[in-house]
Amino acid sequence: MTQYKFDKELNRKGTSCIKWDMTESIWGKKNLLPMWIADMDFATPKFFTDALIKRVDGGVLGYGCRPQKWYDAIIAWFKDRYNWTITQDQLGFVPGIVVGIAHALRCFTKPGDKVLIFPPVYFPFANQIAYARCKQVDCPLLIKEGKRGEDFEIDWALMEKRIKGCKAMILCNPHNPGGRVWTRAELQRIACICLENNVFVISDEIHCDLSFKGHIPFATVNAKQAKNTVTFHAPSKTFNCAGVGASEWIITDKALHDKFAAYLKGGEFDAGHYDSFMPSSIFYSEKGKEWLSQAMAYIKDNIDYVEKFLKDNFTAQTIELSGKVIRTQDEEYAEAKFGTKQLIRMIRPEASFLIFLDFRNLGLPQKELVDFLVDKAHLALNDGAMFGAGGEGFMRLNVGCPRKTLERAMAQLKAAFCKKYKL
Ligand SMILES: Cc1ncc(COP(=O)(O)O)c(C=O)c1O
Repeated sequence: MTQYKFDKELNRKGTSCIKWDMTESIWGKKNLLPMWIADMDFATPKFFTDALIKRVDGGVLGYGCRPQKWYDAIIAWFKDRYNWTITQDQLGFVPGIVVGIAHALRCFTKPGDKVLIFPPVYFPFANQIAYARCKQVDCPLLIKEGKRGEDFEIDWALMEKRIKGCKAMILCNPHNPGGRVWTRAELQRIACICLENNVFVISDEIHCDLSFKGHIPFATVNAKQAKNTVTFHAPSKTFNCAGVGASEWIITDKALHDKFAAYLKGGEFDAGHYDSFMPSSIFYSEKGKEWLSQAMAYIKDNIDYVEKFLKDNFTAQTIELSGKVIRTQDEEYAEAKFGTKQLIRMIRPEASFLIFLDFRNLGLPQKELVDFLVDKAHLALNDGAMFGAGGEGFMRLNVGCPRKTLERAMAQLKAAFCKKYKL
């Protein structure tokens, strides 16, 4: 068995990658540690790069087409992992999921139609609704304290109300930035509400292969609603190959499928470039599974590390700085100063490598929080507010990186925190 080396720090600067090469221009600051965009700092496995090299060695970079292997690999992946039987004529290609959502909105809604989302949620959903000239309807998630700590939940009463008159809904399954893996019961309830209200569902399942607790494709929970649903999926987050531009969509209803396929074909939006069909064909395999299970074990350890770090370092009683344990005067003082015991918390993701850090106990206005992280901690994180309603007080941290990078990030956060609060 190949042992992949996720610990290896790679120098991605100067490789024309958004994460490392655009941080300075976006934030206007030098030397920020980029822990934002959902792109992992892990090497693409050699079995994939070898296949790419071989293809380029073929010598002619002409138009690519979908090989049979592409269909077979996706069909087998869904059957094997999610027990979802799909057929070749239900599958389609788009170069990216955001692109796919943009097209689905243009194909299945018209300007002025209402589209429901569950913020805080992946911000391009809102952008695409606006670009399609539809009306965004928010159904903000609730934050509840559960067994796992704080967690996002759907506000069912609000959903029942707000869905009225909506033409479509975009579901993030699993959820980004909260990392919630929706349960079968939740998905069934969403499906029933959508069915009753004749709502077309766009289910973005890009993070599903990275779930720590299984995944249920939305289109499998209710046969009737499945007929009015498009599912988007991709190898891009799973295998860290987003730059290749390869995603798949599934519609099980023939008429709906043919409508979307014809729309995409008409504009040649379904064309992939030379390498686009390689990730799914190659990664949805035994080798891919092996890489993925090792990557997920590594990511889980990183999540555990952050969770423990926050508990050990940002509780009110004990703040450790430079190896020395400093006790704040007493617990009462700390509680009076911050109002609660754990000052920086997190929503533990059930899927993927993104952690929604909760700074609300610090009581900082959002701008001050962002400035603190950028100017004092020298970290580039995604501002929670960009995910929409309910995102204020949060920042999204990407832990798809070698442990050393993460340790550096946490040390920077702690040093900045101790300095700010004179601890
Ligand atoms: C929920 C979600 N959908 C879509 C994307 C982007 O997909 P693509 O690069 O294929 O457009 C991301 C990337 O972070 C995401 O988190």
